[in-house]
Amino acid sequence: MSPGVDGLLRPDQREDDMARTALVTGGTRGIGEAISIALKNAGYNVAATYAGNEEKANAFKAEHGIAVFKWDVSDPQACADGIAKVEAELGPVDVLVNNAGITRDAMFHKATFEQWREVMSTNLDSMFTMTRPVIDGMRERGFGRIINITSINGQKGQMGQANYSAAKAGVIGFTKALAQENAKKGVTVNAIAPGYIATEMVMAVPEKVRESIIATIPVGRLGESEEIAEAVVYLAGEKAGFVTGSTLTINGGQYIT
Ligand code: CAA
Repeated sequence: MSPGVDGLLRPDQREDDMARTALVTGGTRGIGEAISIALKNAGYNVAATYAGNEEKANAFKAEHGIAVFKWDVSDPQACADGIAKVEAELGPVDVLVNNAGITRDAMFHKATFEQWREVMSTNLDSMFTMTRPVIDGMRERGFGRIINITSINGQKGQMGQANYSAAKAGVIGFTKALAQENAKKGVTVNAIAPGYIATEMVMAVPEKVRESIIATIPVGRLGESEEIAEAVVYLAGEKAGFVTGSTLTINGGQYIT
């Protein structure tokens, strides 16, 4: 391998000429699937985690040749063990994409604490459980990229999603604090806030509601997962070293911050 024409390392390239390793949570389906594929195409060693859909994960692995690992991102011990396994097999994690997320939509006056807890633990606790085991190594090596997938609904709030909106807003606060703590160590921390993307999660929204949402998107359509994945590849690269603490909104103009 050799540096690019401008003398900088290529996005996927480490100083020691090895490909960097990227870990994508929820990386076998939805937006995460597109992120895993885009990072692989950009030259990274990619590990994708999944929570339960074994069949989809195996099909994804067979089709794309990307390593898959099963664990629950809300379980601290499972994350520590899983990350140790990824690092033993693929090398130290230089790029972490905290993408895994779930919805348990309900109007708050009908919501249960169980729905609240499930969303908080998968979407927000995972920021701690996944990032804590990789941050020391990134700081020691003087390079790291942490990319947290938040949501338009963490920025603007969404009826039926008090739990999800709270968790995703928390992701933005976490990103800003962690960015400041690690800026001097070559570790950048950014968030991406997708709008409504054509994934199973959005397709599960009742059709009438979905149509009313699309009507509020100036670009006039749902987004594509690949449009989020492109931004992840940019933020993961060497050339994005001056971008930290930011939240990149990719929402077709639905909410302009
Ligand atoms: N936008 C506009 N109106 C909405 C709405 C939304 N997102 N969600 C609910 N409403 C409206 C309904 O149309 C309905 O209005 P009418 O009484 O005038 O028909 C009213 O609110 C009550 O809704 P429901 O009758 O559906 O009430 P419910 O208790 O049966 O169900 C619900 C509530 C589970 C929240 C259901 O409405 C729902 O699933 N809404 C979608 C919520 C949503 O937008 N989730 C986003 C999922 S995608 C995602 O999270 C990815 C991301 O990051 C963007």
